[in-house]
Amino acid sequence: MTRRSSPSRSPRRPRAKPFAERLEAAGQGHLLAHLETLGPPARKALLAEIEALDLGEIRDALSRMQEGAKPPTFEPPEVFPLRRTAEQEALARAAREAGEALLRAGKVAFLTVAGGQATRLRWEGPKGCLPVGPVSGRTLFEIHAGKIAGTRRRYGGSLPWYVMTSPANHEATVRAFEEKSCFGLPKEDVRIFPQGTVPAVDLEGRLLLAASGGLVRSPDGHGGLFGALRSQSILEDARRRGVEHLSYFQVDNPLIPVADPLFLGLHALRRADMSAKFVAKRDPAEKVGLLVLTGGRVGCVEYSDLPPAVAAERDGEGRLRLRFGNIACHAISFPFAASISPDDLPFHRAEKAIRALGPDGREVLVHGVKFERFIFDALPRAREVVLLEVEREEEFSPVKNASGENSPATAAAAMAAQAARWFAKAGLPLPPPGPAGFPPVEVSGRFALDEAEFLERAAGLEIDPRKPVFLDEEAPWSGSRSRS
Ligand code: UD1
Repeated sequence: MTRRSSPSRSPRRPRAKPFAERLEAAGQGHLLAHLETLGPPARKALLAEIEALDLGEIRDALSRMQEGAKPPTFEPPEVFPLRRTAEQEALARAAREAGEALLRAGKVAFLTVAGGQATRLRWEGPKGCLPVGPVSGRTLFEIHAGKIAGTRRRYGGSLPWYVMTSPANHEATVRAFEEKSCFGLPKEDVRIFPQGTVPAVDLEGRLLLAASGGLVRSPDGHGGLFGALRSQSILEDARRRGVEHLSYFQVDNPLIPVADPLFLGLHALRRADMSAKFVAKRDPAEKVGLLVLTGGRVGCVEYSDLPPAVAAERDGEGRLRLRFGNIACHAISFPFAASISPDDLPFHRAEKAIRALGPDGREVLVHGVKFERFIFDALPRAREVVLLEVEREEEFSPVKNASGENSPATAAAAMAAQAARWFAKAGLPLPPPGPAGFPPVEVSGRFALDEAEFLERAAGLEIDPRKPVFLDEEAPWSGSRSRS
């Protein structure tokens, strides 16, 4: 919602009449009365903010979404499944090697989206600062950083980590990284950058005014990533480093492998623009987006946009017909990321009670609309897409709610369960389950990234099963190799 071109704009302040007319014509006449009440600096700042907007686009976005288009149809897409044919297994082996070669050559960057407002979590700080490590109490950021350090150690090279924040949590995120010296990663290989914002409107499309001055704005969604990659010079940095693929994941999932060679390799061998991982959806009501084929293109439909009857449909084998649960992990090729402009992605609306100034100038709760773009809306623009099925218990345990399902407690339990499976495979003794119901064991990505690496590194380890066990390595800020 930023003006793209304004050929007739004068570099000087707009004359009052045409500007007023423009606002009236765009249905934003209410702003004029407010502008009159402001002192010169606040007036100038608000004028500049309004001038930078494409007012027509705001109205279009609202009306397009209210038009009630014909409901789309969704079909199962072609996928690379967990149960593979011999041919697929051979391709997987070649792909893993290709992915490892990309990592060794430093052609991959990690990309984490950590903006948004953790409202469902009732957590004040950045979501990435939530402690979830079952033994270590480490935060989501620290857990991802451990895996990134492990990946760098395994493959060498200076693979960069790009972290997108929102303006509301940017400073706190930067502080969290600084306080722990970037969790032991070289500072020059970590870039933290804020996403953009879009103005919120009331149900008639009128811009809302904030008590703190200016317009009410909210983060532009994780789809704002493409704009931020450009405006914050991340693409430039990646190009300079020779990055060919972005390994994208959400901050809220501590189980996610941060750069999976199999996934990256399949994506690269297929010359895909953008790829996605999925898990089999548990039941029709599970709140995950679904990867589907719609209008002949791969796309993702949000759970809230899928009619319950369609969500419950079964195929001939009794499985959910649409079962390809989006875990929000993507491989994105660099040229594709560079080719997407923010306006290529549609706005989704979220109706919310929004704090804004009422007509009498006092702050009230207004029933309004916030706009967001979603990263997966870039999928239909991709010429080639790989959809890779992965094991839920190995890769997906997101933190969405303060308690119950998909909470810090379930994520901690999933991390411990994964470690316990690896311990059992390695023949290591396990401490008995603690009060939370799981054995207190945890493996940092610095120690091992996956089961195969764990089995190699665990040989000969002495474990005292009377105490909680945390296997770690090279975590300079904590000063411990392992705690057991
Ligand atoms: C999201 C996906 C859903 C998927 C699920 C998997 C959407 C709309 N849906 O659901 O398809 O199955 O994850 O866990 O995303 N974020 C930003 N900036 C923003 C908004 C969000 O960086 O403006 C980040 C958040 O920090 C978070 C991630 O994006 O890491 C996902 O946002 P969230 O609102 O939690 O998505 P879900 O509705 O849970």
